[in-house]
Amino acid sequence: MKKKALVTGITGQDGSYLADLLLAKGYEVHGLVRRSSVVNRERLEHVYERARRTTKKPIEYDGKDLGKSTGLHLHYGDLNDSSSLHRLVESIVPDEIYHLGAQSHVGISFDMPVYTGEATGLATIKLLEAIRDTRIKTRFYQASSSEMFGKASEFPQNEKTPFYPRSPYGIAKVYAYWAAVNYREAYGIHASNGILFNHESPRRGSNFVTRKVTLGVADILAGKRDKLYLGNLDAKRDWGYAPDYVEAMWLMLQQDKPDDYVIATGESHSVRELVEEVFCLAGIDNWKKYVVIDDRHKRPTEVDYLLGDSSKARRKLGWKPKVKFKELVRIMFEHDCKTVGVTLPKGK
Ligand code: NAP
Ligand code: GDD
Repeated sequence: MKKKALVTGITGQDGSYLADLLLAKGYEVHGLVRRSSVVNRERLEHVYERARRTTKKPIEYDGKDLGKSTGLHLHYGDLNDSSSLHRLVESIVPDEIYHLGAQSHVGISFDMPVYTGEATGLATIKLLEAIRDTRIKTRFYQASSSEMFGKASEFPQNEKTPFYPRSPYGIAKVYAYWAAVNYREAYGIHASNGILFNHESPRRGSNFVTRKVTLGVADILAGKRDKLYLGNLDAKRDWGYAPDYVEAMWLMLQQDKPDDYVIATGESHSVRELVEEVFCLAGIDNWKKYVVIDDRHKRPTEVDYLLGDSSKARRKLGWKPKVKFKELVRIMFEHDCKTVGVTLPKGK
């Protein structure tokens, strides 16, 4: 029998890569999607396209035929609607639940602290309660974050590093982290936390700094704009590649015992280095001519420096990152150049 997985946040960066991975492994994949006035399935478009090709039929975005032809089933619900979570868990009876849905933008969490608390924090307990109430035997993955380390007290950060969140988002993720630990200890639920450091890709949302820079510089190269507005260039992040990181999520749920794992590359770079790298690939010497520091993109409290130690995951899961900073930046920039219709300068 096919294994069944339920993925929240399936329309997001990680959800879409995880869906690809699980479908390739032969899973029946169920995704929670929320209602929006414009249907947002861009990151799943290739799955629809494949279904259209194989069935030679028009596959509707909200139609049931997608699941029949691809193994991907989408269901309406919302992280803040516990009845929808309960109903999905009860009707699907998934072998594995990947809880990736969240208000995931740190800067925006300062503008929407209560909503972020609900969608990013409390929703985890709503989902765990659905598992507890229905008594189904399933494995649960919580998308925890290096933002929980915040104003970190040690470098690099590992599973034992104390948390010191610096945003409503970070606070909500700490709540969700402990919810997963508590439900594991209290009710024996197979719940694991993946403490993932920043991971990026061509599917990254355009208001996260890596994608903002790769898209912005591609636009500059194409002559579509002449300025890039950014916030704090001094912040340092441990940036990895999203497809590598969803593999780690899956590996965590294949373990007999649930546990918590840091997933990171072990390399940290500043936003300034990111900007320099992308402008260098574009063959533009004087990046300072194009970059404007805009206080609107600064945060009331910042996470200055993150660097992860993923040795536990390497040892126990056999996981390691395949793509590091320079290659990641190139993958993203090449993709964005293609999208806006420019080619990288010769020799780059
Ligand atoms: P993302 O691209 O922002 O995707 C977030 C997903 O959550 C989207 O599918 C979004 O749906 C969904 N969502 C948000 N609010 C919802 C609600 N109220 N009801 C139902 N669905 C809702 O995030 P990501 O980068 O893929 O990250 C996945 C998870 O990992 C998140 O929990 C994030 O906090 C965490 N994380 C990410 C990183 C990273 O560097 N990427 C690192 C550590 C942890 P819409 O498409 O409809 O908006
Ligand atoms: N978004 C953004 N926009 N960030 C900027 C900008 C800008 O114009 N200019 C500078 N930055 C800085 C931010 O202040 C931050 O220090 C750094 O760039 C990275 O910002 P983001 O790309 O927004 O990511 P993040 O580190 O805040 O959060 C991401 O990673 C977390 C894991 O550590 C998100 O994906 C979170 O969901 C995730 O948990």
